[in-house]
Amino acid sequence: MQAFGYRGGLLHAESVPVASLAEAFGTPLYCMSEGALVQHFGVLSEALDGLDFEICYAPKANSSLAVLRILAGLGAGADAVSEGEMRLALAAGIPASRIVFEGPGKTGSELGFALSVGVGQINVESEGELFTLDSIARRQGARAPVALRVNPDVDAESHGKISTGRAGDKFGIPIDTVPELYARAASMEGLQMTGVAMHIGSQLPSLGPFEIAFRRLANLVDALQASGKPVERIDIGGGIGVSYGDGAEPPSPGAYGSLVRSVFSRFGARVVVQPGRFIAANAGILLARVVGEKMSGGRRIVVLDAGMNDLLRPALYDSYHAVLPGRAMQTGESCVAADIVGPFCETSDTFARARRLPPLKEGDLVAILGAGAYASSMASEYNSRPRIAEVMVSGDRFALTRARASYVEMLARERIPDWLEAEI
Ligand code: LLP
Repeated sequence: MQAFGYRGGLLHAESVPVASLAEAFGTPLYCMSEGALVQHFGVLSEALDGLDFEICYAPKANSSLAVLRILAGLGAGADAVSEGEMRLALAAGIPASRIVFEGPGKTGSELGFALSVGVGQINVESEGELFTLDSIARRQGARAPVALRVNPDVDAESHGKISTGRAGDKFGIPIDTVPELYARAASMEGLQMTGVAMHIGSQLPSLGPFEIAFRRLANLVDALQASGKPVERIDIGGGIGVSYGDGAEPPSPGAYGSLVRSVFSRFGARVVVQPGRFIAANAGILLARVVGEKMSGGRRIVVLDAGMNDLLRPALYDSYHAVLPGRAMQTGESCVAADIVGPFCETSDTFARARRLPPLKEGDLVAILGAGAYASSMASEYNSRPRIAEVMVSGDRFALTRARASYVEMLARERIPDWLEAEI
């Protein structure tokens, strides 16, 4: 399914012209496709067929309640990294038993919350956290279902800022120390050891690093089982790459699934996967309008009403996002390379460079693709720009899924210290 493409020369989201969405809700606007979310979930489920598996979607990619509701309906769990994400997942209808609580800096109060709602798995990342969790669980009269997150010392070969499985990274427990800690944890009254977990990074360009890490994890499971420790859950993290249209093709889901099956099916354990980007990235676009055009040093610059506060990835990771004009280029139309930028006073506020685009005038629509994951969820109010609206499309239906924040709301959160009140 192609969620975003041209029909009759106009860019559509499923069966809805994006111009209608811009008209109804204004720009900048995030737009998600239900069909694409469902399709991506289905492709991954199919790839893992034959395994006892559980897909725990990572809401950090896109934590919209509407997105979570769709995934809940498909039977997904969630890999939550904060109390906020646990609350959103529960509100969307994901059962607590399918929520994994994860992250290298969980606070005592977050752990207490996770136990009080009965999450299905807590991934523990250090010896200290193990003791903290044990004592919180005993205090609450609970037994915490624990998986130890392993650091397998594997370079994901992805962007350095999103690689998480190398020795020296802040994540996980060094793999060689896990058996001893697992044995100790098994005797703690507040803990129920369920298995092991791992996540080596995001947007992996190839299967190689997965394979090395999976084999290390499998050797660990062998060692644990040989010493009589039950391992019911093997959580292999997320990280499956997607195509952003820059020519780099990630491994196919089928090849990923075959690898997972070949390494883990012999254990008879449940394999947990935590995809975020794979499900959401290409199910969303950022829709913006052209504010104006100019030339600088011989370069064509197209300025949009969306900025780096709405979509941070290009500024933070130099990431590539395809850009499409709201109407298809016509034959014979002269396309000139352009830099597509936002309105911020810093050069990092650049979405794309040297893209061939037709002539554009003020008010024309432009879509930034691959903006369903780590886009709206990483947005901020930098430059005092309120968070933008979000819409969901399904066939020819569409609905607002997040209201545009208002200036009134933005100002209402501010306080002036009383000793300054009198000064004006
Ligand atoms: N599980 C854990 C423990 C994670 O840390 C992550 C992502 C995932 C699962 C989901 O990974 P995915 O399947 O989406 O690759 N902001 C960055 C990406 C950060 C990823 C952080 N962890 C970006 O915009 O590229």
